[in-house]
Amino acid sequence: MNDLSNYRKSYEKSELLESTIPEDPINLFNKWFHEVEDFDGSGEVNAMTVSTIGLDGFPKSRVVLLKKFNEEGFVFYTNYNSEKGRAIAKNPNICLSFFWESLERQVIIKGIAQKTSENNSDGYFESRPDGSKLGAIVSNQSEIVPSRNYLEKSLKQLEIKFEGKEILRPKNWGGYLVTPLEVEFWQGRPNRLHDRIRYALQEDFTWQINRLAP
Ligand SMILES: Cc1cc2nc3c(=O)[nH]c(=O)nc-3n(C[C@H](O)[C@H](O)[C@H](O)COP(=O)(O)O)c2cc1C
Repeated sequence: MNDLSNYRKSYEKSELLESTIPEDPINLFNKWFHEVEDFDGSGEVNAMTVSTIGLDGFPKSRVVLLKKFNEEGFVFYTNYNSEKGRAIAKNPNICLSFFWESLERQVIIKGIAQKTSENNSDGYFESRPDGSKLGAIVSNQSEIVPSRNYLEKSLKQLEIKFEGKEILRPKNWGGYLVTPLEVEFWQGRPNRLHDRIRYALQEDFTWQINRLAP
């Protein structure tokens, strides 16, 4: 048994106080995101854990890249037929979370996922390098494949087929917009007295702000 009980760290980098936070969680997310980026741009600041409720009733989490965020919500791109895509089709309740170790921060977003418009997905697909476009076409994400060799051969065949031609977005690939209902910000503090501030969307579309016990 690996005993990790001595892994212990004191969090001392920052604080999160009611007196300094905006009324809207997207503004605070924006501030935190750019602070992390400026502090340590070497990591994948936009890597987030996406959790869905699977068709088997189990939650499943995986890392996905956040590609856009604004007042409407948070956007990522994936294969609509993947395990997560099938899960979202059945149950759009979703959770996104970020762990920004460099500034000892966590953000957890609960929300509702919906497909982005065809236009939006086309636009993002178009911006990707050809290799990534073909990779998206060749990969029936989350399906069993016979071997790595099979994938590489399939990619080669597609490269030949599409040489000099426009590569269009497959209909089963695109974006999801996650509209937030609850956003929790966690800032590590000394003595385990961490700051936790939760924004919860109210019926009148204002955000109720509460501090939670660490
Ligand atoms: C750093 C990182 C970034 C990733 N970005 C994406 C992404 O943007 N879209 C995506 O579909 N999968 C991405 N993946 C792969 C997913 O974690 C996952 O393996 C894949 O989406 C299939 O998940 P599913 O079978 O649960 O649907 C990324 C993985 C890592 C580690």
